[in-house]
This record gives sequence, structure tokens and C-alpha cells, in this order.
Amino acid sequence: MLKSPKRLSGRNFKGEGTVNIIPKPLKIENAEGSFRFDSAVRVFAPVPIISSMFDELDETVAPDGRTVVFELGVTEYDYVLEIFDTGVKAVAGDAEGLFHAAITLKQLVECSDNGEIAACRICDRPRFPYRGVLMDVSRHFFGVDVVKKVIDAMALFKFNYLHLHLSDDQGFRIACEKMPLLTEHASRRAQTCGDGKPYGGFFTEADVREIVSYAAERYVNVMPEIDLPGHTRAVVSAYPELSCSGKPVEVATKFGIFSEILCAGKDETYEAVRNILGDVAKLFPCKYFHIGGDEVAKLEWAKCERCRALMEKEGLADYEKLQGYFTCKVTDMLEELGKTPVVWNEALLSGMLDKNAVIQYWKPGAKSAREVAAAVREEGRRVIVSRHNPYYLDQPYGYSSLKAAYEFEPCLAEFGEGAEAFVTGVECTLWAEHIDSAEKLFSMMFPRAAAVAESGWSAPQKNYSVFAERLRKVIKMLRAMGINYTSIGDSNPSFVKGIVETVAFQLKNMSRIDASSARNWRSIGMRPKKKK
Ligand code: ACM
Ligand code: ZN
Repeated sequence: MLKSPKRLSGRNFKGEGTVNIIPKPLKIENAEGSFRFDSAVRVFAPVPIISSMFDELDETVAPDGRTVVFELGVTEYDYVLEIFDTGVKAVAGDAEGLFHAAITLKQLVECSDNGEIAACRICDRPRFPYRGVLMDVSRHFFGVDVVKKVIDAMALFKFNYLHLHLSDDQGFRIACEKMPLLTEHASRRAQTCGDGKPYGGFFTEADVREIVSYAAERYVNVMPEIDLPGHTRAVVSAYPELSCSGKPVEVATKFGIFSEILCAGKDETYEAVRNILGDVAKLFPCKYFHIGGDEVAKLEWAKCERCRALMEKEGLADYEKLQGYFTCKVTDMLEELGKTPVVWNEALLSGMLDKNAVIQYWKPGAKSAREVAAAVREEGRRVIVSRHNPYYLDQPYGYSSLKAAYEFEPCLAEFGEGAEAFVTGVECTLWAEHIDSAEKLFSMMFPRAAAVAESGWSAPQKNYSVFAERLRKVIKMLRAMGINYTSIGDSNPSFVKGIVETVAFQLKNMSRIDASSARNWRSIGMRPKKKK
């Protein structure tokens, strides 16, 4: 029998309270008194994961009957959490809201002195429905255990989308039944930046099922990305007949941008893409499916008779339109699979993008922000904000500090008035060209991801020093989870240290980029030569 804690008379919740949690809740009202959360407290919850979060507690009933009760009920908030002297009560309209309430309570308890938490009422709901983290498992592969740890850390900060970047020039990382060479060949590279060590890895179907179900228990959706039509050198290394030239190439062993991409003029390409998307989509229940669309080098297309013949036949004036044609074919396939496409912002440039596609905005510079805003404003699209600076967490702290990540407002001024209507959320990215271990991954992710989580969940009014005070307490919870992080001090380097860090990073970056990359990069926006 579930028992709700009694409300003590005269304990009115009032005022603007504060609590040590991240992300900051919408509304906090304090009251007098406090609740002692010790091992004798009984927790009642209709969601098994919530009970397991507090499973260090005794099975015995506290002599004074103190209980923590999680209940499904009607509320206009994501959850309401009330803390009385005699107990704790959480109410939410669904299990996800109760899970969020449990995370809040867990943070309150862990950041308290000896489990003594001040009486208060928290009424909470997220600012944005999409709060994501990108893991790049292509450049360096991270197995199921690391992905689960990332999910644990995400759940602690109420992130709800894990974006898995599964394919790139340096490796294809998921088994596809209909295209076995993608794992037999494209998941391995001969070495990385001259280290002479063969490198590889991929997720089996069972791995994906394990990740997806672990994430779902923590209310995290897993969105797959198969980057198309660029960043596909690994794919064409396994199936060279899918490139324009058909020539054999190796899986890339350096980074940057490669010109060996899928041929847009061959029927076989679309058949292969259909097979890959079908196999991947069936493993990921997430409504979103990311199809990349970024940094498409156009050199091979410009030399390809089939691509040029297709342009002629379809009246496509330039290579951007050819990319638009390609992407339309892919979004049609996703529609058949019941998925909503997500694309990087370059995919807008053709002017032909499917109206339902969600845009992930990443490119730095006011020009691309304005382009995105202009395109989405008229078309009623949704935008996920992942601007390079400061949401690319693979970049050094000197380039994007904790403070910068915290203070960044996702509804950018460059988006103009009314951006709240089309910004659907935020996502920080952990590109893995330079991240080759779990320790490095977490040291880049935290504490900055906590700041991104706060921007995704909390109201936009910000105060860095108050945030840093809360962070100092909450971030310690990661250690107990076996997750390392950079200190708050080192996350905000001085101007000089920041410049030194950034220059060192760029020099290292340049030494690891393929020699063809600059030429390939320049070809991204190239236009067909005029006929004489
Ligand atoms: C990207 O960083 N190329 C999406
Ligand atoms: Zn071609």
C-alpha cells in the first residue's frame, strides 16, 4: 500500500528558492524544515529504475515512517517534487517525468550534508524537447560499456538524445545484414595518422539492442547517423562500385575531408543506401534518423559522366542541387521507414530539402546562422543548435570554455526575433579525431556538457558564478560513477593559456589532416564550369 507523506500544517512553500542541482529547475519554493534522507527511508515507485537508483537503502521501514513516494498523476509540469519534514512526494504525468524527479532528488541528496535536504517544492519542466550529446564512434570506436557510461552521465543531467555518428571516412561501425563488407572491410583501417597500428571495431545487432534498451530505461533516445553522401570513403572502400570512379580506395587513415564519395548518378548507390537505412532503422526505435549532409566534396561528381547526365536529365543547375536531389531520394526512403530526417545545416543549401527535415545547425559564422534562420522561418522547420563554438566539446577549453558553453544562448541573436518557435533544442558534440580513450572523452565532455544541459533544460536567465557553485557540488557525483572530468578552474583557462592550448590543438590537428583535404574543402561549394 503506497502512503503519501503527510503535509505538516503551517509548512507553506513560498518565495524564490535555490537548490544545488543541474539543470536548474523552473520553479523552487522553500519552506521551513528539512527531510533526512537516510538508509531507513522507504522509496515507493512504479518505475523499477527509480527504485534501483536508491537501492543502497535498507528494506526496513523507518521507525518514524518516513517515505519517498513517486506517483503518476495530473500536473502541468514535467514533474512536481515536494519535500516535507515527514517525507518526499513526486508527481508526474508519465514515467519519464518521475525519472526526472528521481534525478533531481538524487542530486539533492548527494549534494546535501549527511542527507539533510531543505523542505521545498520544485515544479519543473524543460525549456526544449531535444537535449542531445553526439558520440563519434567512427573516428575512434567506443564499445558498449563506454556508451553506457555516457548514457548514465547524460541521464544525470537530463539529456534525452544520444546521437551516434556511426559512419565516416575512417570507419563504418554498425553491422548491416545486406552489406556485410561494411563491417568486414569498412570497419577497419590500416593505421591512424602514421602510428602503424591497425584499428577497427563495430556494433553488432546485439550491441545496438543492448545500448538502445539501456538508454530507454534512462529515458534517452538513441538517434543513429549515417552520413550521406559525403564522409563515405569507408563505404566506397568496401564497395568501390558505389563511387563515381569505381577505383579501389582504402579506409581513410588520416582526418579531414575526402573526395571519394557516393556517386549520385548510379542506381546501385540508391539501392545500397536503401539497404543500409533499412537495416539501421530497424534497430533504433528513435523517431529521428540523421543522414548527415555536411562537407560534401564535389570533385568526383564534377568529373563523373553519370552524375552530369543525371543533372542534365533532372535539370539540376549545380552540384548543390545534385546533393539536393540525392538527399530527397534519401528522405523519401526515411519517410517509408517512418523516420523524421535530421541533417547538418549545409543540406539546406540546395533549396530542395524535404519540409519535415530537422536542421542541425553547426557552422560557425553569422552568415550561416542567418541562412538557417531564413530557410526555417518560412518553412516551419525545427532546428537543433550545435554551433561549433562553443558546443563542439572535442575542441580545447581555450577555444570554448565552460563559461562560454554556459553563457551561450541557443536562440541566437543572428536567428532574429522569434527563434524560440523554431529552436527545438541543443546538442553538444564529441567528435573523436583526437579523442581516443574514454578518459579523454569524459575530460572533454565534463564539465562543459553540464552547462549545455542547463541551456537545454532551464530558463535562459543566467548567472555563471551561481551556476559554478552548483556545479562544484553536482559534478562530484560523476566520480562515484567512475567518470572523470576536467576541473572547473582548468575549464576556464586564462586568455594566454587559452591561446596556447588552441594553437597547440590546431597544429596537432593540421598534422593529422590528409594532404588532399584543403583541395577537397574548397570544392564543397564549387559550381559547374560554364560551357563555352
Ligand atoms: C560537422 O562538423 N561537419 C557536422
Ligand atoms: Zn558520379
